[in-house]
Amino acid sequence: MNNCILEMKGIRKYFYGVKALEGVDFKIKTGEVHALIGENGAGKSTLVKILAGVYQPNAGTIIFNHKSVQFLSPQISQQAGISAIHQEATMFPELSVTENIFIGHHIRNKSNGLLSWKEMKDKTQALLNRLELDIHPDTKVKNLSVAQRHMVEVAKALSLNAKIVIMDEPTSALTIKEVEYLYKIIRKLKSENKAVIFISHKFEEIFEIADYFTVLRDGKYIGEGKMAEVTMDEIIQMVIGRNLEHRYPQIEAEQGNTILKVKNLTRIGFFKDISFELHQGEILGFFGLVGAGRTEVMQTIFGIEALTSGEVFINGKKVNIANPAEAMNYGLAYIPEDRQLQGTILKMNIKENVTLSIINKISRHFFLDKEKELKITEQYGKQIEIKASSWQQLVEDLSGGNQQKVVLAKWIATKPRILIMDEPTKGIDVATKATVHNIISELAKQGIAIILVSSELPEILGMSNNIIVMHEGAITTKFTRDKANSENIIKAAIGSILS
Ligand SMILES: Nc1ncnc2c1ncn2[C@@H]1O[C@H](COP(=O)(O)OP(=O)(O)OP(=O)(O)O)[C@@H](O)[C@H]1O
Ligand SMILES: [Mg+2]
Repeated sequence: MNNCILEMKGIRKYFYGVKALEGVDFKIKTGEVHALIGENGAGKSTLVKILAGVYQPNAGTIIFNHKSVQFLSPQISQQAGISAIHQEATMFPELSVTENIFIGHHIRNKSNGLLSWKEMKDKTQALLNRLELDIHPDTKVKNLSVAQRHMVEVAKALSLNAKIVIMDEPTSALTIKEVEYLYKIIRKLKSENKAVIFISHKFEEIFEIADYFTVLRDGKYIGEGKMAEVTMDEIIQMVIGRNLEHRYPQIEAEQGNTILKVKNLTRIGFFKDISFELHQGEILGFFGLVGAGRTEVMQTIFGIEALTSGEVFINGKKVNIANPAEAMNYGLAYIPEDRQLQGTILKMNIKENVTLSIINKISRHFFLDKEKELKITEQYGKQIEIKASSWQQLVEDLSGGNQQKVVLAKWIATKPRILIMDEPTKGIDVATKATVHNIISELAKQGIAIILVSSELPEILGMSNNIIVMHEGAITTKFTRDKANSENIIKAAIGSILS
């Protein structure tokens, strides 16, 4: 018996001259977890979007369930048994969890044909229970955290009872505990003989969960094989075409004056009594599980959210920051976690996005200095290795990782004195991650004070001078780097305070 459920052959896809895929082969068996691996812009999302009926290929064949098929629309693909969790959110924020899960496949009452909300709600509740999620089916999606939204997308995929489940970077918004849930679900799907396509830049995850892999580079098929028969170095070699030694830059703990001081900062319902100091040239890591309140603290400091009580001092002076514009005047920059909502304007091009926050500095008498705009974009775009056909390309059309790099470039271009980065390497490939880490340490060397919010332990341990761990809206522990290790950090993050 041939248990190959899908075979894609010679797939080509061009976007106005951009060769996203140049003759890619991909096949997957039932009961297999198949990792699709490659750098930012390699073509992973494009390939799975072709399978999901979002894009039509310019050439190539798809054999699904032993028949030659064409997925002319997402509905057709879904009905055939392919369910996709895309890299970018595809949910409707104004609709409830139930509505989002059943959109496109509503359950109707058999006798009168009306929508059966009761049944859909019950099914949603059952799915949420199965995922051990503490979310109400009536909650509007806009009121969920990024991680919760992702889990709802997983629930939606499960509701479709698919033969192939596509997960395009499902873990980028999740932390340890949720990732564990997700692994459990993936193993369950596997035991039910479903095929799972798993896209991730975190190789530890791939080695943990995948059975098989395919590597793409620059839109081309590079190779495939069993996970059990390959090493991490071999995978990296295939992905970037060379060897990579990623060592965290050794940061000298040479720190200057206190530049930011936060005292008893409280926002009722989100966090309480947050106190810490940040020095020039320091990288201060913030670790915690999703929901620990790190993002909320940073948004409050940056003036996006209002505080209930507490004080913020910059250079020893008490400040009341009411909005991001004021924060920027004090030399603060905040790189948000959720690039799609806050960080970039998808309908604008790279140049416009990168220079958006410094528009005043590159305009004279209300006229934009186009040359300066280009120069600055080139400087930062090259430094951070944004891969695009031109600086005029719309951000919307960039690969996920490259959108993230545009956000980084934009905030670094403001030349802040205090830089808050919320999950800066989320969705960024191995080679570029090393670049971003070097950039962060360069900025610190120049005296910029940096807050690094990250859910990646190696990143927190590798980059920070000092580490603060939060749990349920409070700081549980502060470590200097030499006192921190994965074990005590995780313990602090799950709330068991160490003596
Ligand atoms: N709608 C589009 N219009 C123009 N170019 C596009 C479009 N979608 C993707 N591309 C280009 O196709 C190439 C492959 O992009 P794709 O999103 O498939 O990469 P990826 O492997 O998923 O990367 P990442 O890891 O960053 O998500 C990139 O060069 C990207 O800029
Ligand atoms: Mg992608």
